[in-house]
Amino acid sequence: MTAYRRPLDVVILAAGQGTRMNSALPKVLHPVAGRPMVAWAVKAARELGARNVVVVTGHGAEKVEASLEGQGVVFARQEQRLGTGHAFLCGIDVLAASLQGNGHENADVLVLYGDTPLLRPQTLEAMLEDHRARGSALTILTGELLDATGYGRIIRDAQGDIAHIVEQKDATPEEEAVGEFNSGVYLMDSRASVLAHCIGNDNAAGEYYLTDLLGLYRAEGEATHAFKLADPDEVMGANDRTGLAELEAILRRRINADHMRAGVTLQDPERISIEDGVQIARDVTLEPGVILRGQTVLAGGVTIGAYSIVTDSVLEADVVVKAHSVVEGAHVGAGSHVGPFARLRPGSVLGAGVHIGNFVETKNARLDAGVKAGHLAYLGDVQIGAETNVGAGTIVANYDGINKHPSVIGAGVFIGSNSTIIAPRTVGDAAFIAAGSAVHDDIPEGAMAVARGKQRNIEGWSKRYWGGMRDKVQKKLPWLAGWLERQE
Ligand code: UD1
Ligand code: CA
Repeated sequence: MTAYRRPLDVVILAAGQGTRMNSALPKVLHPVAGRPMVAWAVKAARELGARNVVVVTGHGAEKVEASLEGQGVVFARQEQRLGTGHAFLCGIDVLAASLQGNGHENADVLVLYGDTPLLRPQTLEAMLEDHRARGSALTILTGELLDATGYGRIIRDAQGDIAHIVEQKDATPEEEAVGEFNSGVYLMDSRASVLAHCIGNDNAAGEYYLTDLLGLYRAEGEATHAFKLADPDEVMGANDRTGLAELEAILRRRINADHMRAGVTLQDPERISIEDGVQIARDVTLEPGVILRGQTVLAGGVTIGAYSIVTDSVLEADVVVKAHSVVEGAHVGAGSHVGPFARLRPGSVLGAGVHIGNFVETKNARLDAGVKAGHLAYLGDVQIGAETNVGAGTIVANYDGINKHPSVIGAGVFIGSNSTIIAPRTVGDAAFIAAGSAVHDDIPEGAMAVARGKQRNIEGWSKRYWGGMRDKVQKKLPWLAGWLERQE
């Protein structure tokens, strides 16, 4: 970016209803690749280095505004949907008010829609360069399709300049045959804020058309240009759920291709979804059906097994997550193995070389290096020291029906299978817990706790028990019938 650049302000039109989504959620809040559509527009504006971002809201305004809270955008309410020209006017008025005469004169204004998440910041960057290089007063982003039905058509004059834009419902058959269309993205100089007040609503729809700005600029003898998209998909919007799924698929392919270029192996990328905020290092392998969400970070050499879902988690180098695991809000140390069928819940912090096996659930649990919990355990609100072995079926009973209680288990502890640690509990380093214990007292360092009923063997029990129902045993349990016979 060059130093002489004029400031850029962005107006995002997002007041429309989107009836065909058939949804309680405003159209622009439907997520694509993990981000509401309108947030994609805000992100693009930020990446362009926008000074001010104004979002024009109307339908579902409270929800739309709430979703963008804290992102430094200004909102302009459009109380009635009177058309794109009117929406823009609402936005530009708020922009002028927020600038209070400061530097408004020499800024460029970019108009985006809140429902075109595929638009690449690089495309906008190129458009901005072109706009400035040509000294254009108004640059219109256009695309070309064999059939541009639904879009306003670009009608060029004999010199090849844009003479006007004709809306679908105002178009003659010849105009309808034109493939070049208006994307709805514009770059304009600061006069737009004055000219927009001159837009009328004398047309087939009785709407205020933002496209009328073209005629207003031309009438002033100003330079207006088109900047043509190489890929018309970039300005694809979604009118219904089918359209939404198409946007999702295109964005998914784009994100996946970027990761593959960056050295990530995706086994069957059509079935892998990676949200936009996820960071993946080189030589990570993702098996089919993997879903990566939120602020997830995967270090080099990580493997995520088939159908696993990882959300807002950090996985250090060479971690292996096996199939069908669910990992959320967790930090997993280098070289750890998790799954198959494991569940790491928020606040799970695993040191290096930890092993979590099938049907093990952790929550708010710190497991130091080398801890092993191979099978069937619940570890909640607990700290476990290094190298401790958690036997199959271990339960940390952290909940008393009202409150959660924390427990601390030392390093080098051996917890026998099927033990219950009743919280709050402290278990010293290098202690033993006998299998099947219900641990209701703290255990000192190095001690062995046996907390279970004493075993009593009752001789001859089976012969008496089964002997009382020989006929039934004969029918159902032939081996046992033979055994009974041999006891005579
Ligand atoms: C508009 C253009 C058309 C272009 C098309 C690209 C006009 C008159 N026509 O069509 O040339 O091909 O976009 O998609 O501008 N919005 C508001 N308030 C309103 C009306 C719309 O905020 O009162 C917002 C919508 O939420 C949407 C955007 O503006 O994000 C475009 O609205 P839409 O109705 O889809 O545009 P069209 O008029 O069909
Ligand atoms: Ca439209």
